[in-house]
Amino acid sequence: MKVILDCDTGVDDAMALLYLLSSDKAQVIGVSTVFGNISAAMAAVNSLRVLELAGAEGIPVAQGTEVTIRGDIPVLAPHVHGADGLGSSNLPHPRGVIATETGPELIVRLARENPGEVHLIATGPLSNVAIALGIEPRLPELIPSITVMGGAAEVPGNQSAAAEANILHDPEAAQAVLSAPWNVTLVPLDVTMREILTEDHRKRLEIAGNPVASFVSRITDFYFDFFHSVSFDERCSPCHDALAAAIAIGDVVPLSAPVIHVEVDCNDGPARGATICDTRGRYQGFPEQEGAHCAVVLETSGDFADRITQRFVEWVGGRL
Ligand code: BDR
Ligand code: CA
Repeated sequence: MKVILDCDTGVDDAMALLYLLSSDKAQVIGVSTVFGNISAAMAAVNSLRVLELAGAEGIPVAQGTEVTIRGDIPVLAPHVHGADGLGSSNLPHPRGVIATETGPELIVRLARENPGEVHLIATGPLSNVAIALGIEPRLPELIPSITVMGGAAEVPGNQSAAAEANILHDPEAAQAVLSAPWNVTLVPLDVTMREILTEDHRKRLEIAGNPVASFVSRITDFYFDFFHSVSFDERCSPCHDALAAAIAIGDVVPLSAPVIHVEVDCNDGPARGATICDTRGRYQGFPEQEGAHCAVVLETSGDFADRITQRFVEWVGGRL
């Protein structure tokens, strides 16, 4: 599967990228970056760093937008991902350079060059993807299916009581992307907050003796402190973006992912950015909803943290 990753390369985006690079099911053909955890510029540098760590130089990295599609200046999240977006891990500055095209231009170009063959995985705010839809309205024909980490279907938000961060960063973009006529798989907090990387996993990574596992152990060390302070009673973290990547390439098969209507609240009230998922059918086994094209992942098996840890412990070919 040819994959474009559109991301805001913080800790869990880096893990998603490494996970994709470690898989023989995915061929990453491009990375576009967007504001979110950090600036799109820093996310591009971080993506190059991660690619070089993995020995995967040569994959184009294009910097996308630093503002929302309505022009809002975002609030970034260095307290979650570190000032450098990678848990202050001091990864060397990359040798590679950022592409001259923009993130949305890269998405459109690769889609046109590979019609029907590319899967887009979005693990940041959906601004680049919405801009790409504006540049090329046929994008949903060229890219028939996309996977999005974002939203909260039946659980609380994380950026506000109602909304998840990637969606709340740019609700108008999210509404445009989720309503475009392609098949969307939405991987919301309902599942990502239940796939938990623990201190045991981190220690296994620390002693694995390869650069990728060591790097993931370092970046999650920082990340764990944030989640300990706001979400959990111990140092640990959810697996947001890497879970979405694993679902996208078929490594994780959801236990429940009904195809249902999803709307994004674009009002300026307390529910701004909420993903209103029509789960009313849950008591009837989710009967078909006419016109729905968004599979919302509501349940996964809970063993993904073990699996990704093992994947990185067994990493071959990485170098630093
Ligand atoms: C999402 O927001 C970002 O902080 C993470 O990278 C992830 O994509 C989780 O809400
Ligand atoms: Ca992200």
